[in-house]
Amino acid sequence: MIKKEYKTIVTEYSSETELSNQEQTLISKAKEAAKKAYAPYSKFNVGACVLLENGEFFSGNNQENAAYPSGLCAERVSMFYANSMHPDVAVISIAICASNENGFIKTPVPPCGSCRQVLLETEMRFKKSIKVIMVGSDSIHVIENVSQLLPLSFQKDNLYE
Ligand code: THU
Repeated sequence: MIKKEYKTIVTEYSSETELSNQEQTLISKAKEAAKKAYAPYSKFNVGACVLLENGEFFSGNNQENAAYPSGLCAERVSMFYANSMHPDVAVISIAICASNENGFIKTPVPPCGSCRQVLLETEMRFKKSIKVIMVGSDSIHVIENVSQLLPLSFQKDNLYE
């Protein structure tokens, strides 16, 4: 019998200004996107922005629906948007933030499980780490790749064994 341990390293920042200019732009685009979310049911407005290797930004926000499961999270909207426009360009980072009636959420906003699965597929597809920047108004959490957010993940190789 062997026991395996999986590690997730989170870098915490207390201010956006500690990040690069490009990452600050990514965050401000995610915040702009959150303002345009369609979230009349949860009133939890999520914004995400994806940065591609070619320097282009693709923003998205959550899109809800009266038939609740038909809605989609901000991360998947922005990631699918980027991948649909540039199927051959790697994604290098994504920023995520959210607001509710009280303003921007204080703690860093993590992607849900389904979004992690989608982000991981893109990371594997382009064989390039995607930095995940989870933004809160009090602190920011950064993880260097999606694999660390989803250990023991189901991947394409599992289908063909
Ligand atoms: N939501 C996102 O957009 N991203 C996440 O990672 C978590 C949740 C959305 C889905 C739904 O519209 C609302 O937030 C409340 O769950």
